[in-house]
Amino acid sequence: MRSQQWFGAREEQTFQNRSALRSMGLNPDDFAGKPVIGIANSWSDLNNCNANLRELAEAVKRGVLLEGGLPLEFPTISLGEEFMKPSAMLYRNLMAMDVEETLRANPIDGVVLLCNCDKTTPAQLMAAASADLPAIQLNGGPRAISHFHGEPIGSGTDLWRYSDERRAGRISDADWKDLEACYGCGVGACNTMGTASTMTSLSETLGMMLPGTASIPATDARRMQAATATGRRIVQMVHEDLRPSKILTASAFDNAIRALLALGGSTNAVVHLIAMAGRRNISLPLSRFDELARTTPFLVNLMPSGQHLMDRFHAAGGVSAVLAEICDLLCLNNLTVTGRTLGENIARARSFDREVIRLREQPLAENGALAVLTGNLAPRGAIIKASAASAKLMQHRGRAVVFHDYEDLLARINDPALPVDADSVLVLQNAGPKGVPGFPEWGSIPVPTKLLQAGVTDVVRISDSRMSGTAFGTVVLHVAPEAADGGLIGLVQDGDMIELDVASRRLQLLIDDSELSRRRVAWQPRPTKHLRGYPRLYIDHVLQADEGCDFDFLRSSSDAELEFVQPVVGRS
Ligand code: FES
Repeated sequence: MRSQQWFGAREEQTFQNRSALRSMGLNPDDFAGKPVIGIANSWSDLNNCNANLRELAEAVKRGVLLEGGLPLEFPTISLGEEFMKPSAMLYRNLMAMDVEETLRANPIDGVVLLCNCDKTTPAQLMAAASADLPAIQLNGGPRAISHFHGEPIGSGTDLWRYSDERRAGRISDADWKDLEACYGCGVGACNTMGTASTMTSLSETLGMMLPGTASIPATDARRMQAATATGRRIVQMVHEDLRPSKILTASAFDNAIRALLALGGSTNAVVHLIAMAGRRNISLPLSRFDELARTTPFLVNLMPSGQHLMDRFHAAGGVSAVLAEICDLLCLNNLTVTGRTLGENIARARSFDREVIRLREQPLAENGALAVLTGNLAPRGAIIKASAASAKLMQHRGRAVVFHDYEDLLARINDPALPVDADSVLVLQNAGPKGVPGFPEWGSIPVPTKLLQAGVTDVVRISDSRMSGTAFGTVVLHVAPEAADGGLIGLVQDGDMIELDVASRRLQLLIDDSELSRRRVAWQPRPTKHLRGYPRLYIDHVLQADEGCDFDFLRSSSDAELEFVQPVVGRS
């Protein structure tokens, strides 16, 4: 085992390492020949969604000890969606580097990855894919359901809805305070099929979590039992040399895309899956998402695309039940962390609640939960979550109302003089990966107050930004290339005619070529105030949305680059 280089090799090399274990009260002889299991814990007081990971880490340790391993927990950077500004996405790659390099530098034979809030899940999986040590993931689970005026509250989704109600003058100050008090009623991740639950569901689909664990509620005792089982399993995985490279295959990513579509999951998953696949030198072009979307039914009736919340999803059978429903579309031979195939894992699964996980023959939609758009406005692609959009706007022509950046948007969106009507197309520029930097979730541009007051609840919105996985509406996202990278979205002007046609996957700026050329010649990149540090590194190396927004130097393009370089172990 790898850890033997630290603890079991020649004495002059191992003395200090063994002594370091003793200084923590651990006798290395008690663990001779046993695997060292790292527990990468993204718990933080700065991340409310990951608040239960400390208790789960203790349960993981129990499992590791029961199975004959040595658990060593370590902290990592945590990415909390609520507090981190401008976006936790700015730091996803930093967290991936943090986890990968900690694995690389230390005496670790296998790792348990403790995640929950949105970006913590893909960041850890990107690290595991690159490090390629035996790895298994465990999430903190979705939070309990709170109620406001007798109605269950869906995290995020209902906040957007109630915010619109408030701007329309239909919620009082006192009620708004009441909503704040009950909105986030406990530990855990958002209880909708937002980015957090989408990504943990996809981790389970990829084969990186124990089956049935992604959707267990945060406070359910079964989650602690799952943590102990996860701890036991990673020790076995080290003995079996079961590494991510055997699990994270091209067909596993196809399965994950199918699951994303059947779930009606978050658009953010598109970016994360591409980034994770890139770490294993697997190409996932946007066209693959669109191809699979045309033949994958949308089955899961959860907010924001549907009506229900994660507690019902878990009771209905969770991820395994969804996969069982589309099993003929999946590659069932893929190996998973159980040591068995995906097909074996889901052999007994079925839906126990057809209102939540629909029968294959009675889907919420035959296909197309997500669609990939192209056209002169997005030559490298853009995404729309059709399952959460308005059917009547799927084919639309309208005049652009342009916001040059987020500050401009905030300053003018609620201005009664804004020249906007129900047919307008709202365009937000300079909100992409390099532009901010960090690719924030500003793409679900609020419907202008004057339209809300007139009873308009949705308009077409287009940006080079992302949106929260809990959001909804006719929102075109991830336009690539972004404005800050010279994309045509940066050349759109007020009054330009834009055509959106989801059925033909078209997004077009309807102006003539000579005018476009004139604007291109006049375009100048905006100066950035980020001249140093991590934001500078990010701007210089982040890839565009269609490539997953990883750093160019973190993707692998050859088998040689996939080699996990061992450190030289000796006395310091
Ligand atoms: Fe953390 Fe939704 S804000 S999971």
